[in-house]
Amino acid sequence: MNTLPFPHAASPTPEAAERGRKLFAGPVDFVKGVVSMEGLPPADRLEVCFAGRSNVGKSSLINALTGRKALARTSNTPGRTQEINYFDVGGHFYLVDLPGYGFAEAPVAVVAKWQALLKSYLAGRATLRRAFVLIDMRHGVKKVDEEIMTLLNRAAVTFQVVLTKSDKISLEAQEKTLAQVRAALARHPAAYPELLVTSSEKGEGIADLRAIIALME
Ligand code: GTP
Ligand code: MG
Repeated sequence: MNTLPFPHAASPTPEAAERGRKLFAGPVDFVKGVVSMEGLPPADRLEVCFAGRSNVGKSSLINALTGRKALARTSNTPGRTQEINYFDVGGHFYLVDLPGYGFAEAPVAVVAKWQALLKSYLAGRATLRRAFVLIDMRHGVKKVDEEIMTLLNRAAVTFQVVLTKSDKISLEAQEKTLAQVRAALARHPAAYPELLVTSSEKGEGIADLRAIIALME
């Protein structure tokens, strides 16, 4: 048993895994790309969002979850996602792909605008049930991640850390990152007490994340 705080999320029960599988095997549709708070769809259902530094793998994770290769646009160029992109899952709830924070290959004024929108969204969306904060397993928690976590704390939005790109490093290196992440999370009361390790490339943790989301409904 893992006695450290922030253990790995427990494996879903077969029933929960099946519920997650079914949910994401059904229709998932792009709804709209939003560039201002006024453009958000009506807050009439729950939503979960994917936040994280540019290039951490937010859009790739949405594609892996939904089993659709190009539902959310991904790219090697940090700053690919420049709007708040809404996806409807079976008419039940929204998955929200956010622009990255931190480094982005886009003009300074444009980046400033979408960063402001990102912050307004994270702090002010009543139906936001949980924010998944993605952390690259190779890099751990950086200063910009801390800023977003602090903002989520202040807004009392529960956030869960999802580690990405586990396929890129050894298990030993993963443990090092996990220790750093756990220490950082201990300072944030809004942090959900379980971590999830994923690889959109190899599929690790994807069924677990489907089940976690399905159980929120
Ligand atoms: P922005 O929209 O720019 O903020 O980026 P993002 O966080 O949406 O990242 P995106 O999903 O576009 O992925 C960035 C790059 O990382 C792409 O080249 C992906 O193919 C790669 N990538 C994402 N997830 C994984 C993973 O699990 N494993 C590996 N090896 N590469 C990944
Ligand atoms: Mg993206």
